[in-house]
Amino acid sequence: MRYSTILGIESSCDDTSVAIWYKGKILANVTAGQDVHRQYGGVVPELASRAHQSNIIPTLEKALKTANIAENEIDAIAVTQGPGLVGSLLVGLNTAKGLSIALNKPLIGVNHLQAHIAALFIENPEPAFPILVMLVSGGHTQLILVRNYTETEVIGTTLDDAAGEAFDKAAKLLGLPYPGGTHIEKWAQSGNPQAFSFPQATVQGLNMSFSGIKTALLYFLQKESKNNPDFLTENLSDICASYQQSIINYLTSKTKKAIKDFKPSSIAIAGGVSANRKLRKTFQEIAQSNGLNCIVPSFEYCTDNAAMICMAGYYLLENNHVSGLDMLPYPKNNSNR
Ligand code: KG4
Ligand code: ZN
Repeated sequence: MRYSTILGIESSCDDTSVAIWYKGKILANVTAGQDVHRQYGGVVPELASRAHQSNIIPTLEKALKTANIAENEIDAIAVTQGPGLVGSLLVGLNTAKGLSIALNKPLIGVNHLQAHIAALFIENPEPAFPILVMLVSGGHTQLILVRNYTETEVIGTTLDDAAGEAFDKAAKLLGLPYPGGTHIEKWAQSGNPQAFSFPQATVQGLNMSFSGIKTALLYFLQKESKNNPDFLTENLSDICASYQQSIINYLTSKTKKAIKDFKPSSIAIAGGVSANRKLRKTFQEIAQSNGLNCIVPSFEYCTDNAAMICMAGYYLLENNHVSGLDMLPYPKNNSNR
């Protein structure tokens, strides 16, 4: 282990997060959220980068204090390079570059999606490979075969919206705040998941589509509200439970197909939507009925966090990857990174 202490920074979307990794353990994982987007029903990029600017230094100081680590004890700095909002990424990148210059320590740029996968190893340092991962976040939805700590293959992807987006867009239609997933889950708890049905997109193989389900919800609400203007308020729990169930059923059917095709040793969920309790339970049941190991990260490692950036950075650094100070952010995912 060449690096004992890694500082990680995540700022790709609307969470400013700083974590400290020390010899395989996360000593601090401090995240500052941004309430400013709530009223807009989605992240407003310009407001996000400004909020990152005000949050980054206090978050950094809090992480160092929580971990009881002095700046000069840091061996390397890992930072999200992309994909994400460029203005947001720049705040993290520039802070990381400044620290790298001031402390004269190596800098490593991390792919945010690879980091969501690396989050699985925080609590499971020696998993049974290969792992079939359903990565479900606000910007991406992919089925990934993870062969080892650094080797991954995308075996299925959404052709349009991400699963998280399907939750966020539905929440907007239902008059619920951003981020939609958490609010739909709350309302779903007291609802009947079989009350209504929303059609599943027919996409061949392991690819997926989520844009149709939110449109189906829109037409359903328009139709029902014509007969009863109070339909939405009277049935919110049942609508949320049924909508959530439709997304889970879809993710489940693709996962079961991938298990048949690729015969993994473990299955896992990662990304913000994996914080959903019903989805977590469903994955545990799928694993059990197929005799597979199941990796479901703790809540704090599902949604965006810097602990996963430290973890991804660690594996890259151990494989001699270091980034230059000329490193630039990239907004879209690039599978070569
Ligand atoms: O991974 P993440 O924090 O950020 C991205 O990289 O996109 O994922 C955010 C997404 C949002 O779409 C949010 O609605 C969704 O994760 N999410 C959930 C839950 N918590 C967050 N979706 C369903 N149920 C949840 N409990
Ligand atoms: Zn994410």
